[in-house]
Amino acid sequence: MKTPCLIVAEILELLKDKVRPGVTTLSLNDFAESEARKRGAVPAFKGYSGYPYALCCSVNEQVVHGMPGKQALNDGDIVSLDFGVVRDGFYGDAAVTLSVGEISSTAKRLIRVTEESLYRAIEAAQPNGRLSDISFAVQRQVEANGFSVVRDFVGHGIGRRLHESPQIPNYGPPGRGVRLKPGMVFAIEPMINEKGHEVKILPDGWTAVTCDGGMSAHFEHTVAITAQGPEILTKI
Ligand code: MF3
Ligand code: CO
Repeated sequence: MKTPCLIVAEILELLKDKVRPGVTTLSLNDFAESEARKRGAVPAFKGYSGYPYALCCSVNEQVVHGMPGKQALNDGDIVSLDFGVVRDGFYGDAAVTLSVGEISSTAKRLIRVTEESLYRAIEAAQPNGRLSDISFAVQRQVEANGFSVVRDFVGHGIGRRLHESPQIPNYGPPGRGVRLKPGMVFAIEPMINEKGHEVKILPDGWTAVTCDGGMSAHFEHTVAITAQGPEILTKI
């Protein structure tokens, strides 16, 4: 699984340099797809349950599954880029939230706390621990900072399929669920709202937005449990 995961990490790294005011999300999508194919990989999301694009681009109040389009990014936006590929039968999946130009201090804090919550969750993914230790670690970090955890979407097992069991909520008490064992691989992906946790789906059938219009951030890594602890696969 290191191969597809490294491809995802490289492409997200390249996308970071492309994000700036005036760039269209469709151009980011097309770039991500062609970079994946150059590396012998196939975008994992395109065609998944009918999703039409390689990349998810979720801007400001969009939580996840925002669809790329001809609209340009603006100074002050935040944009979450979620990308996955399959290569030789194995999947990798990761996401980052980036600033576009100069953003508000609240937006900066939301991005920082969301990324911190992902790293707390990864640190909690220890062999012999329990699945919900991951969930609890996200919730504790996020709520201590006054933000809220999206309930309607979850992390997931990943391997020969993009979405495998178990589902991994980003909230809940620790010490519950399956026992974590070396060899398990998870996509851990906190989705965090500035204000309330409620989300709704737009009429396009995909784009999830916050109900109250507050901003939302998303970070994701594919993480393997090893005997020595968690290993982040979607990292260069
Ligand atoms: N990273 C997301 C996920 O894990 C993206 C899925 S988009 C979809 O589930 F189109 F593939 F559904
Ligand atoms: Co995922």
